[in-house]
Amino acid sequence: MFKRKPFSGTQQGLVLAIDIGTTYSGCSFSVLDPGVVPEIKGVTSFPAQPPSGASKIPSVLYYDSVGVLRAVGAETLLESTIEQAEDEQWTKVEWFKLHLRPKSSKTADLRIHQQILALPPDKSVIQVYADFLRYLFSCCRTFIEERMLSGGVGFWESVQDRIVFVLSHPNGWEGPQQNSMRRAAVLAGLITENPEDRDRLHFVTEGEASLHFCINNRLTVKVYLGALYFLKDEGIIVVDAGGGTIDLSAYSVSDPDTNTFEEITPSEYKLYGTRFEEDIPRITECFDQTTKLQFKDNREPDLDIRSGQMKIAGLTMARFFQPSIDTISEAIVDQRRDACKVITTVLLVGGFAASPWMFSELKDTFQQLGLSIYRPDTHVNKAVSDGGVSFYLDHFVAIRMARYSYGIHAHPLYNFSNPEHQRRGFFISLDDSTRHKSSESHSNASPNTVCKIFLKMRDVEISLSHFDVRSV
Ligand SMILES: Nc1ncnc2c1ncn2[C@@H]1O[C@H](COP(=O)(O)OP(=O)(O)OP(=O)(O)O)[C@@H](O)[C@H]1O
Ligand SMILES: [Mg+2]
Repeated sequence: MFKRKPFSGTQQGLVLAIDIGTTYSGCSFSVLDPGVVPEIKGVTSFPAQPPSGASKIPSVLYYDSVGVLRAVGAETLLESTIEQAEDEQWTKVEWFKLHLRPKSSKTADLRIHQQILALPPDKSVIQVYADFLRYLFSCCRTFIEERMLSGGVGFWESVQDRIVFVLSHPNGWEGPQQNSMRRAAVLAGLITENPEDRDRLHFVTEGEASLHFCINNRLTVKVYLGALYFLKDEGIIVVDAGGGTIDLSAYSVSDPDTNTFEEITPSEYKLYGTRFEEDIPRITECFDQTTKLQFKDNREPDLDIRSGQMKIAGLTMARFFQPSIDTISEAIVDQRRDACKVITTVLLVGGFAASPWMFSELKDTFQQLGLSIYRPDTHVNKAVSDGGVSFYLDHFVAIRMARYSYGIHAHPLYNFSNPEHQRRGFFISLDDSTRHKSSESHSNASPNTVCKIFLKMRDVEISLSHFDVRSV
């Protein structure tokens, strides 16, 4: 079984994982004490959040008419904030995370593009991200200083210049998105631009963070004849079903002794592509905080209005969930098809994993496909931030699959007079190892020789096509 080692550093430290979600955000941390096994803890209290409140806060901000930040997170839910926002015409910013996404021409992406609210005219997504990060960071500081340690203030001051940050992002976000997040982290004052600070900021995909959470919660082991053993030679798909994206990653155990996992298919993320109409935000807010969370049976009674409260028929409620269930099911079928090992198990985390209806529907669907589905019994929505800390401490994933590969082998006819070939300054060769500029080699190419052209695009050399000199 996995057992974390004591921290081997010589001075105290702090790891802080910040998970900015489309709808909700959370933070987890670990205090690093020399010689002590680090533990992962959640930040469980935020300003304006009732004591029994969830451990995440809404990813929402209010800016006033001159662009000053007026309320963030749970503060945006206060009746007084909402009233003041209406009176003074503040701008509400939500779902801002999706402004950072890699744009694509897929239908779901176009639909999201139409549905997410525009940012205030004078704010870039990096500025909004930075404002939100700064707020979460200050909440973490207050929480750690006040609640977690005796002498918390002194502890914070002593470690603040070497805090390690782990920021999570959806699977499939890469360099450009990480770059934007890094700029936001600098703007928010988490790190400086100094080169030595670069190593203090780490990125993890939501899928990989979720896997780490599942391992910590012993979801990747099976009980067999009373003994625990790792799922060896079997693949598992970890699904983080959040408020805006579904992140899927498939893994298998690569080495049970060292407790390492390998990715067995490129990770994937999907946008739900549906959300409730914007002209009824208050209804959806109530719906999001009550009805949606409790829904478990589509045989509930028909539409009924009593004491000003509308009952929504079970079948109608079920229809709200159906697009998400369909998206998750289809994505799992695709990952299973592409994986290089037999997938037997699905681990479901993220806020949606808490939905009894969602879970039972997915369970039925997957049973027919021969898949078992599990979810952790607690804190499914904190999976990514807890997992982010574990990612830094434990490094369970040893092998990852590239999502893209450069180099396309195709066999169109090469044409010396093709201006497109000439324009790109291509290279040709008589075999794979020797390359010549076309001008040097085409005169040497003898008939009946099969050659290759290589197109140069920026610094990446793309092997575009083979060509056959006979045909020229
Ligand atoms: N019991 C529940 N039943 C149904 N939905 C739930 C339940 N609990 C949470 N949710 C939903 O889960 C979503 C939030 O999940 P989570 O916090 O994982 O998302 P996120 O991190 O904001 O989004 P993402 O990871 O996609 O960016 C919200 O839409 C919330 O309504
Ligand atoms: Mg999330």
